[in-house]
Amino acid sequence: MTQIDDVKSRLDIVELVGGYVNLQRSGSSFKAVCPFHQERTPSFYVFPDRQSWRCFGACAEGGDALSFVMKAERLDFRDALHRLAARVGVTITERNNSGQSTELYEINEAARRFYQQELLSPQAQFVREYLVERELAERTVQTFELGYSPPRDNRLLSHLTAAGYTSAKVVEAGLARETDDGRYYDLFRGRLIIPIREWSGRVAGFGSRALDDADVAKYINTPRTPIFDKSRILYAMHLAKEPVRQKGVVIVEGYMDAIMAHQHGYDNVVASMGTAVTEQQVAQVRRLTSHVTMALDGDAAGRNATLRSLESSWGVFQQRDARSAPRSDGSVLQPPAALELLVAELPAGQDPDDLIRQSPIAWPDFIASAPPLFDYLLDSLTARADMASADGRAWVARAMLRFIAQIPDRIRRDIHLDELADKLGVSVDTLHASMPVAAGPPAARRGRPAPATADESMPAPMRSESAAEEYCLSLLLQHWDELGIPAAVEIEDDWFNRSENKEIYRRIMDAAYTADDADAPPDVEAPPELESHLNLLKTRELRLAGPAKPERAWRQIRLGIEKEYLNNEISQLLTVLEDDADWDSPVAIQVQAGKERVREINQELTGAI
Ligand code: UTP
Ligand code: MN
Repeated sequence: MTQIDDVKSRLDIVELVGGYVNLQRSGSSFKAVCPFHQERTPSFYVFPDRQSWRCFGACAEGGDALSFVMKAERLDFRDALHRLAARVGVTITERNNSGQSTELYEINEAARRFYQQELLSPQAQFVREYLVERELAERTVQTFELGYSPPRDNRLLSHLTAAGYTSAKVVEAGLARETDDGRYYDLFRGRLIIPIREWSGRVAGFGSRALDDADVAKYINTPRTPIFDKSRILYAMHLAKEPVRQKGVVIVEGYMDAIMAHQHGYDNVVASMGTAVTEQQVAQVRRLTSHVTMALDGDAAGRNATLRSLESSWGVFQQRDARSAPRSDGSVLQPPAALELLVAELPAGQDPDDLIRQSPIAWPDFIASAPPLFDYLLDSLTARADMASADGRAWVARAMLRFIAQIPDRIRRDIHLDELADKLGVSVDTLHASMPVAAGPPAARRGRPAPATADESMPAPMRSESAAEEYCLSLLLQHWDELGIPAAVEIEDDWFNRSENKEIYRRIMDAAYTADDADAPPDVEAPPELESHLNLLKTRELRLAGPAKPERAWRQIRLGIEKEYLNNEISQLLTVLEDDADWDSPVAIQVQAGKERVREINQELTGAI
């Protein structure tokens, strides 16, 4: 039994969920008003026999105890696991690297306290004056835990080594450097320190700002360490989670922009720390909201690069959303909100910090007036091109088509094509014809499906109730060469019932989409708690014979897990239906749709179509 199973086996989902919502018994299950969306009639159910939960209303989501805590507490997989482990009194042993990362977090915490203390010293008088000059209130300085790093004598190193940490560890935390001749020195010297807390609130790294105009490096940040990767964190997110859930998120570029926004009560603002927004960052945001506004600094130079990467990460997200969104066959009552990206561009030479200081009340209007990314792109491209010339218009068309091609939803793609045709004065057909082929899910079935045979060598299951899920993941991981992204996008993360598997599938997709080489097997990063599970999936023997086998096995297993998911959903729905006894209800319609799809799958599996 893995540690994760151990935690799960000690939990009772009814008791767990009952701590969040008022559960009412209803036949063999329990129901409640869904904690995740607004509703009057209960559509949220807990099934004690399966130890699972599901919302049949707007969320159309379900899962096990882990996924419930992830959603309810807005935690990632690891943090949710640790939360539950603490609840049932299981100690998750931190193996190898995670034991080390605990120490790195400790070092950061000690450094954060040291820097904050230093800001209060007489020598830091000029720093406190600098903060006053920048109109940062004392409370803000407290909230954001700003600090000061002394300029000389490697005082942080002395402090940390006196506290028992080795110099090498301090280097690993990114707080010090080692010279060629083996001496150590503090990385941050004579700078304003900005601790960077990750999603869960732990200090993962630091930003630092020069206090002397002669300093060439305005900002120096913690380099990449085992626990810090700037591109995976949104600054101030640990403070902004609840406001973001309520109001949507505003992503600014700089630390100071986020800090000043919070000072004026705009607490849904986070910072991308100067780099283009990454997929991992959007994935975090997506757990809270579908309404994303980017506030771009008013300097045209930086904007091209920002837009280019915005365009590509946007495409990835469109596709991820399409994959995890429910199918349109009536299996849900209401689709989840589509991801909406708006772009607010500041006047030339201004950043949010400037704007808010000049006129705090102007901020909400400025954000509310942000156009959708599509409109923003189209406007800024047409402004830059010579629209009187055919070349100019073709240039705009090409750039916009690249963008449109990434939208997986046909209807939305067509709407944008119409708009573009209108703007450029060309026919929609012409645009259609010039559209690049998207990297999206290829629906094409490769050849006729071969009849399914019972002898398709299924290995001994890792766990009988989720054997198909695990087989599916092993197949993907071990036969990426033959299967790759086109196969991987054919399945949906919702189909995985076991949270560990869902998490690994998501991480495969993250890794696949961010890989430099699309054909190489994705370099899946799993948290240490999932490592042994992942290794097993990667290494166990699948016993596939013949060259065409992986594709064939994939087709079967893909249908197999979809069927398992649907059957599970149907039986849950039937429980609910008995309770409602309303055979015209949307629930009944879902059951019909589910059964219909299962019939299709069965036919496909037996090669009848
Ligand atoms: P800006 O240069 O716009 O800085 O960089 P800022 O936030 O407005 O800072 P002030 O107002 O001049 O003090 C935006 C963000 O880009 C990152 C930082 O996160 C910064 O807040 N950045 C910038 C770096 O990481 N390194 C740099 O050298 C420059
Ligand atoms: Mn600024």
